[in-house]
Amino acid sequence: MSQKEIKIADPKGKLGVLLPGLGAVATTLIAGVEAIKKGIAQPVGSVTQMGTIRLGKRTENRVPKIKDFIPLAGLEDLVFGGWDIFEDNCFEAAMNAGVLEEKLLNSVKAELSEIKPWPAVFEKKYVKKLDGTNVKKAATKMELVEKVREDIQNFKRENNLERMVMVWCGSTEVYIAPEDDIYKDLASFEKALVDNHAGIAPSMIYAYAAIAEGVPYANGAPNTSADFPAMMEFARQKGVPVIGKDFKTGQTLMKTILAPGFKARHLGIKGWFSTNILGNRDGEVLDDPDSFKAKEVSKLGVLDYILQPEVYPDLYGDMYHKVRINYYPPRGDNKEGWDNIDIFGWLGYDMQIKIDFLCRDSILAAPIVLDLVLFMDLAARAGMNGIQEWLSFYFKSPMVAEGLYPEHDIFIQLMKLKNTLRHLKGEELITHLGLEYYD
Ligand SMILES: NC(=O)c1ccc[n+]([C@@H]2O[C@H](COP(=O)([O-])OP(=O)(O)OC[C@H]3O[C@@H](n4cnc5c(N)ncnc54)[C@H](O)[C@@H]3O)[C@@H](O)[C@H]2O)c1
Repeated sequence: MSQKEIKIADPKGKLGVLLPGLGAVATTLIAGVEAIKKGIAQPVGSVTQMGTIRLGKRTENRVPKIKDFIPLAGLEDLVFGGWDIFEDNCFEAAMNAGVLEEKLLNSVKAELSEIKPWPAVFEKKYVKKLDGTNVKKAATKMELVEKVREDIQNFKRENNLERMVMVWCGSTEVYIAPEDDIYKDLASFEKALVDNHAGIAPSMIYAYAAIAEGVPYANGAPNTSADFPAMMEFARQKGVPVIGKDFKTGQTLMKTILAPGFKARHLGIKGWFSTNILGNRDGEVLDDPDSFKAKEVSKLGVLDYILQPEVYPDLYGDMYHKVRINYYPPRGDNKEGWDNIDIFGWLGYDMQIKIDFLCRDSILAAPIVLDLVLFMDLAARAGMNGIQEWLSFYFKSPMVAEGLYPEHDIFIQLMKLKNTLRHLKGEELITHLGLEYYD
C-alpha cells in the first residue's frame, strides 16, 4: 500500500438508474442488463464487468477484475426508470429502435414491458424534429423541476432504492453556447428557472432536478446540459458528481484510438475527412442543423487536442478536418462511418488510410452507460463531487476544470481511470517507469 485508502460506503441496497430518453441507447442498455442477468449474453465492452486492473509490480501477478477490486453495485441491484415524450413502454421502444433481435427482446419482454416512461420535460424548440404527447405541463420551468423531483422521489420510494444515478440518453438538443448571464452563477440560473427563461433547455431541467435530489448526473449527448458554472456551483454545493458529455462511440472512438498512434510515431496528417450515414431517430434529430451543430462542435475538438498543432506545426499545422453526418433511413441503427486520412511520413511522402466502420451505435453506447452508472455511484459513495474527469474515457467532449484542456487520448484516459481506482483503494499508482526491474 502506498497511500491511505479512501473511505467508500458499501454499495448495499438497490441502485436506481434514471434515464431521460428511453430510446435506442437506453433500451439497449436495459435489455442487455436483463439478458446478462439471465446468462443469455455477455457484457462485452463494459470495463466494469470485463476489465481487470494490475496492482503493484509486474512480478506480483495481482490482476483482479475491477468489480472484485472496488466495491461496485451489482447488476442485480439495478432498477431502471425514465422519461420519454413517447408513451411506448421499454419493450415497444426497443422493438421500434431495431437494435436488438426480436428473439433476445422476447426473452426479456416481461422486464422491459414493465418500464413505462414518465411524462417528459420537452420543448420542441430544442429538438425540432420530434413531436410527442407524453409531456409535462407547468407554468414555469421551476415548476417543471419540481415535477421531475417528484418523479425521482416516487421512484425511490416505490422501489425501495438506496441510491440513484441519472444519465441523459435523450435526443441531442440544439447548440447553445452558455454565454448568457443566466449560466454564470446559481442565483441567476435559479431566477431564470422561475422567470421561464428561453435559454433553459429541458436537459438542464433534468440535470438541475437530479443535483437538487443529490443524484449524480452524466450527460450522454453533446448539448449543453450541466457544463456551465451555475450548474457546477450547484453540484459542489450539493456534493454531487457530474460528468459529460457525448458518449464516445463509433467514429470518434476510432479517432481517439488512431490519432494517438500517429502522433506517437510523429507521422504528419494533411487531412481527415469523416462522413457517416445513419438512419435511426438520433440520425433524424441530427438532420436538423442546430442539433448537428452541437454534435459537430463535440466531434471536431478531439483531433486538435490530441495532435496539438501548435506544438507540432510541421506535422499537424495545416490539417483539414471535416465531419459529416447524413440521415439515411434504410440503415437504421447500423451506422456506416468512413474516414479518409491523408498522412505523410519520412521526407514528406504521402500515404492514405481508409476506414469503413460498419458499426452499431447503441451496441457501443450501452456498456458506456452501464459503466457510468456504476462508476458515478462509486464516486458518490467515495465522497467525490463536481466534475469527474477520470471518467473522460467515456466521452467525446469530456468536462474538465476551468483552465484545463480536456485529455482525449483514450490510452491516457484509461490510465487515469485505473489510477483513480488504485488511488481510491490506497494502491500504488502505476507510472510504467519500471526501472526497478533492472536494478
Ligand atoms: N448511440 C450512440 O452511439 C451515441 C453516441 C453518442 C451520443 N449519443 C447520444 O445519446 C442520445 C440517445 O441516442 P439514441 O440513439 O438512443 O437516440 P434515440 O433517438 O433513439 O433516443 C432518444 C430518446 O429521447 C427522447 N427524448 C427526446 N427529448 C426528450 C426529453 N426532453 N425528455 C425525455 N425524452 C426525450 C426521444 O423521444 C427518444 O426516444 C442522443 O442524444 C445521441 O446523440 C448516442
